[in-house]
Amino acid sequence: THMAASEELYIDDERRFIMNLIMVGAGGLTVLGLGVPYIAFFVPPGSGGGSGGVPAKDALGNDILSKEYLAAKPAGDRSLAQGLKGDATYLIVKDDKTLEKYGLNAVCTHLGCVVPWSAANNKFMCPCHGSQYSPDGAVVRGPAPLPLALAHCDIDEASDKILFSPWTETDFRTGEKGWWN
Ligand code: FES
Repeated sequence: THMAASEELYIDDERRFIMNLIMVGAGGLTVLGLGVPYIAFFVPPGSGGGSGGVPAKDALGNDILSKEYLAAKPAGDRSLAQGLKGDATYLIVKDDKTLEKYGLNAVCTHLGCVVPWSAANNKFMCPCHGSQYSPDGAVVRGPAPLPLALAHCDIDEASDKILFSPWTETDFRTGEKGWWN
């Protein structure tokens, strides 16, 4: 009976060891599962130029290609694309028909309505409570307390995709740190 007891003890240890292995394995898989999309999110697509970002997408969810886009849009155009975190973001076509280096988050800083661009008035005009923003997103009429949030907007030369990335620098409209940071 002595032998049997020690063998049972041994088996118990072994079982515990295997259980530990399984648990470590499961933990590892979980970390891997969370880690891969997490890392993938931050690795720039194409990973060529080092200027990372999230591709601007059209309403159908397709990546927008800059040449095609700029050929189709008139100077001064402000149209919506899907931007960072899926936020509706304005792409701006400059007078020289190149793309502005920033996009404007279309979410009104008052209570969050999506603010349409009014070409006729040369302003963004919120239909909810009447806030107005200048063509660069500065507040020209309340109740909006803050300018439209900025995002960097760059063209990836290799893929021709338009890439948004977070604007962490000074807000050039206020001379202060961006409120969204
Ligand atoms: Fe735009 Fe209130 S949500 S003015």
